[in-house]
Amino acid sequence: MATSERIVDENGDIYEGETHEGVPHGTGIYEFGDGSGQRYAGQFMNGAFHGAGAMRGPGASYEGQWHQAARHGSGTLERTLGDGTTTRYAGEWRNNKKHGKGEWTDAEGSYHGVWGDGNLTHKECRAIMVQSFGGPEVLQMGTKAIPEPQEAQIQIHLAASGVNPSDTYQRLGPLGPWAAMPHLLPQIPFTPGKDGAGVVTAVGPGCSSGLQVGDRVYCAGALTGTMAEYCVCNERTVYPLPAAMSFEQGACVGVPCATAYRALLQRGGATNGECVFIHGASGAVGLAATQLARAEGCFVVGSAGSEAGVEAVKTAGANAVVNHRQEGYLEEAKAALRAAEGQPSGFALVLEMTGTW
Ligand SMILES: NC(=O)c1ccc[n+]([C@@H]2O[C@H](COP(=O)([O-])OP(=O)(O)OC[C@H]3O[C@@H](n4cnc5c(N)ncnc54)[C@H](OP(=O)(O)O)[C@@H]3O)[C@@H](O)[C@H]2O)c1
Repeated sequence: MATSERIVDENGDIYEGETHEGVPHGTGIYEFGDGSGQRYAGQFMNGAFHGAGAMRGPGASYEGQWHQAARHGSGTLERTLGDGTTTRYAGEWRNNKKHGKGEWTDAEGSYHGVWGDGNLTHKECRAIMVQSFGGPEVLQMGTKAIPEPQEAQIQIHLAASGVNPSDTYQRLGPLGPWAAMPHLLPQIPFTPGKDGAGVVTAVGPGCSSGLQVGDRVYCAGALTGTMAEYCVCNERTVYPLPAAMSFEQGACVGVPCATAYRALLQRGGATNGECVFIHGASGAVGLAATQLARAEGCFVVGSAGSEAGVEAVKTAGANAVVNHRQEGYLEEAKAALRAAEGQPSGFALVLEMTGTW
């Protein structure tokens, strides 16, 4: 049975706390008598630090798990260096050495990593890690190895990630609209996101785009998912981001603008003076299509389902906007066309936004 006592040994070390058969065992405080100023408060077993405990002293402190007097389990070690700066490791330990996952912080910044026997094995980044297909609740923050660029690939430190309907179809997997297209579904676990924007941090061998470390860029079709601190892309899907554009704007370009361009101009063949109806103009693709169609010289009627959507479509340049949640809106769209001077009675092209492809 544990009793409580005060022990002073021949080195001047002082123990005060629970003991078993004369040795520290249970909860107690141990003060070193060597003048180092070190003090341990926590759990003991058979005279050794064991369990949860904190060792503090000038210039260093550790708070966490112990096993037979060694840091072992999870814990945080903070040190103050000679120049006054501090280092901090919060993570897993084994036999007094960093071992497992942890976060390192020093004057240069911080990073997540994996250590083995005290040595850094690889750095990690924070990322959304989808461990099973499902609803938004499967989007969980986790960590993974920072992806390294291979031949003709570029690594980006992301500042913003775009979200598109296809990201949700992927996330739903066999439970969603892409159930019949398993070749479009990623292997689990995965990080979602095709579009993003950030700064180039590494250029793989054999790249010829001329993009360099430090360049502001946006990407479309990232290979490793953009809902992460870092991603890797084929260099042909990475483009310079003009200084006037924010990272958030850049992250919205890839899928929506490419889709609008392909549908409106490459497949639809819209040309100057034609009338285009954009059914669902208030979304990402619709707004891009509205702007592109107007730039092409088309007469554009767009639809939206809310007041804010109507305003957004107007701002994008549409000649007229109807509300697709109101009865008779298609007639209204045709009427807008007839009312416009010199416009024919029908639309040459209709872009439809209500599919799941
Ligand atoms: N094949 C491809 O490569 C590809 C690429 C990108 C997108 N897509 C598809 O294109 C569609 C649009 O994508 P997005 O990124 O623009 O999506 P989004 O931002 O969610 O926009 C959806 C649009 O559809 C409108 N809408 C919703 N219900 C409607 C209804 N009953 N009738 C008419 N319009 C309606 C919305 O208007 P309100 O919200 O104002 O009601 C909004 O304008 C999606 O179906 C997506 O899967 C395909």
